[in-house]
Amino acid sequence: MMKRFSIVLLTSALVSGLSLVGLGSAAAEGKCGKKGQPMCPLQGWMEENVQKPMDKGDWKAVSKAMKKAAGMAPDASWNEGDKSWKKMAEESAKAAASGDEKAIKATCKSCHKAWRKKYRKEFREKPVKG
Ligand code: HEC
Repeated sequence: MMKRFSIVLLTSALVSGLSLVGLGSAAAEGKCGKKGQPMCPLQGWMEENVQKPMDKGDWKAVSKAMKKAAGMAPDASWNEGDKSWKKMAEESAKAAASGDEKAIKATCKSCHKAWRKKYRKEFREKPVKG
């Protein structure tokens, strides 16, 4: 009797284990950022806090957002070296404070070029504090 019960338990543990694996691969395929899906956390944050004020020429807001972005490297090692995430965001904040649109856009581009692809691959669904 007892033995049978534990087999049932074992089976249901296996089944729920399997469905967890299933969930894991769904996450790897991505639940955000594609057509028909909600935006990914950093993507949505950038749109709302950076792109919107950018479109309005609200450089002060862009600068403030970039100061926040400086603290958003998903991994401390990304702040090291000359591609430093933190440094790039700080430069962007500085450019935004000066209101030089061309210079601002150049700083956006350099971080996107350096990190966007890698971020999407490794940290796309990571929540952001903003
Ligand atoms: C320190 C790095 C960094 C800086 C500086 C930066 N971004 Fe981003 N941005 C990212 C990353 C990484 C993503 C990708 C997020 C994702 O797709 O999940 C992103 C995504 C975006 C997106 C979402 C759409 C897209 O193209 O992927 C917009 C819009 C955006 N950034 C605007 C800006 C603007 C405007 C600036 C300059 C004022 C800027 N960003 C500066 C790192 C940065």
